[in-house]
Amino acid sequence: MDWGLKNRLSKIIQPKTGKTVMLAVDHGYFLGPTKGLEDAQKTIKPLLPYADSLMLTRGILRNCVDAASRVPVVLRVSGGNSVLDEDLSNEALTVSIEDAMRLNAAAVTMSIYVGSPHEHQTLANLGRLVDEAQRYGMPVLAVTAVGKNMARDSRYLSLCCRIAAELGAHFVKTYFCENFRALVKSTPIPVVVAGGKKTSEKEALTLAYNSIKEGAVGVDMGRNIFQSDSPVGMIKAVRAIVHDGTQLEKAFSIYEKEKKAR
Ligand code: 5RP
Repeated sequence: MDWGLKNRLSKIIQPKTGKTVMLAVDHGYFLGPTKGLEDAQKTIKPLLPYADSLMLTRGILRNCVDAASRVPVVLRVSGGNSVLDEDLSNEALTVSIEDAMRLNAAAVTMSIYVGSPHEHQTLANLGRLVDEAQRYGMPVLAVTAVGKNMARDSRYLSLCCRIAAELGAHFVKTYFCENFRALVKSTPIPVVVAGGKKTSEKEALTLAYNSIKEGAVGVDMGRNIFQSDSPVGMIKAVRAIVHDGTQLEKAFSIYEKEKKAR
């Protein structure tokens, strides 16, 4: 791995703890104005001090994030569908590597759809993106998107993560599952856990806690933070789990305290 690539990656995965808290706000790339992100600028701003990186599209970056912000950007460079499409797997690369560089991205990210109608296309896109990104020392985060008929089990997600690593991704984002430790073991790149749909704050913190316990390098959480009744409380609690090894109950009390203070 060359110096530039390692340097960019170290902005995301913090060298001090070897862990990362990513804030995912890229939902609009196929969902449009997602609940909690209607006014993306307003939602994102108070969370920036607590995020190790921001995962988003170039449109939201340019229009809703202060260019003086210090937060590293993980730029989504795949898309091409809306939630109205039957088959979400038909994704293309939508941003050039030059534009990712121009936007000072710390990494680029795209989804792969293993087992879906456009599996081949998205996997070939990943190989191509790795080729292009590596030319500029840019890390690639592969996201294992799950098609409608796929089970989010260890066997399937291990397959997805391993393929992402084999094709050259530098880190991978996937869902937590049973036997997660085995998935991490068979994936020779860092594994970040996706937050998933909004659940209770306790459940979301339990997910973060178990992910770290079972070997994830961090979480990339969106709705369970920005749709919470205390987004700052949630991201502070997640940080405590990920970076400080805080126990679940104590982390929950961090969330509750912040919620009461507002
Ligand atoms: C979609 C993504 C999103 O960034 C991510 O899944 C959204 O985060 P959350 O599920 O925590 O709201 O990669 O493919």
